[in-house]
Amino acid sequence: MSAVAEQTQVLANRINALDESSTLAMTKMARELAAQGHKVISLSVGEPDFKTPAFICEAAKKAIDDGFHGYSPVAGYPDLRKAIADKLKRDNNIDWKPENIVVSTGAKHSLANVIQVLVNPGDEVLIFAPYWVSYSEMVKLAEGKSVIVEGAFDNGFKVTAAQMEAAITPRTKVIMYASPNNPTGAVYSEAELREIGAVLEKHEGIYVLADEIYEYINFTKEGHFSMGSIPALKDRVITVNGVAKGFAMTGWRIGFIGAAKWIADGVEKLQGQVTSGTNSIAQKAATAAFNGPLDATREMTKAYARRRDLVVGLLKEIPGFKVNVPDGAFYAFPDVSYYFGKSDGTNLIKDSDDFANWLLNNSYVSTVAGSGFGAPNCIRISTAAADESLVEAVQRIKDAVATLK
Ligand SMILES: Cc1ncc(COP(=O)(O)O)c(C=O)c1O
Repeated sequence: MSAVAEQTQVLANRINALDESSTLAMTKMARELAAQGHKVISLSVGEPDFKTPAFICEAAKKAIDDGFHGYSPVAGYPDLRKAIADKLKRDNNIDWKPENIVVSTGAKHSLANVIQVLVNPGDEVLIFAPYWVSYSEMVKLAEGKSVIVEGAFDNGFKVTAAQMEAAITPRTKVIMYASPNNPTGAVYSEAELREIGAVLEKHEGIYVLADEIYEYINFTKEGHFSMGSIPALKDRVITVNGVAKGFAMTGWRIGFIGAAKWIADGVEKLQGQVTSGTNSIAQKAATAAFNGPLDATREMTKAYARRRDLVVGLLKEIPGFKVNVPDGAFYAFPDVSYYFGKSDGTNLIKDSDDFANWLLNNSYVSTVAGSGFGAPNCIRISTAAADESLVEAVQRIKDAVATLK
């Protein structure tokens, strides 16, 4: 047996069963090609290309000077939990007290915590697809069963209330969705979420994990709606959000939940044994973000909307691409299945993984295959990059696919 195979045997089954994050894998490959001297345009990472607003950075510097160097309370500093409760009231019409808030190391950590706290082995978690790559793996780690419900391209990649209802079984414990969505940019309207909510009102044992991390990056006139604001569901909706996307703070690692106290207490208990309170300086920065003005956030959103128009317009000119118009977030998610079965003479493109790999190695544009998002006909292209890079990247893609026959 090879050394690697032997080492793999030693690793716990739960780790061997886990898939590697496809977004991080593509980003790593892109970095390697760039290190070899290739002019790579990296559109695989889900990260704003803006800097964190200055007033937030100042708050972090002040926190260092003021001596916030020690452990913080497990669920977060009281002033941050209060700022988040105020934010939920102001933006989301959700009335939680600070005791209902738990701050964690990014929204990813918040989501993983809730899954660990609510899901028993064999419990079903209904995931609206296309979905963010980590959802199904988080469920796997809790020994739950992911039940994927697919939103159709023609319905803007959104799952309907009827589709969800048909997938509910006596084992369904949680439904999980993101709006605005990664990877599709789909935004569920208030009417759609109320319809989904009406079905859930009939199923008392089902909890909702509402991932609102892209809340502010919303291009619709109607704006964002939170399922947690529906009074009949309030105690069963766990609202997850953070600072990463709206405030360009991916590296600061602050996420939170707003939830019924017994769920928040469960998350605090888990976190108390695994990570403790998150970074004290980042918490002070996040407090400034939630209490501060949203001007910088709105400016960034305007830029994302402009780039969405730019990229969608250019992608529509590529023969065979089926392109949706995202209502939020910063991704385009074209259906590229027209090219499956075609070849450049040497490489046969069988699926979206082949397509994304081939694109990276032939045109040095890194995207992510849709397979990891539960959408095997698509690729995800981040639009969080400079306009010139986006224009050049789409041109490279267009030139590359023209060689496929
Ligand atoms: C849908 C979705 N949820 C959660 C996260 C995680 O956010 P954070 O960086 O706060 O952990 C991401 C990040 O890419 C995301 O796309």
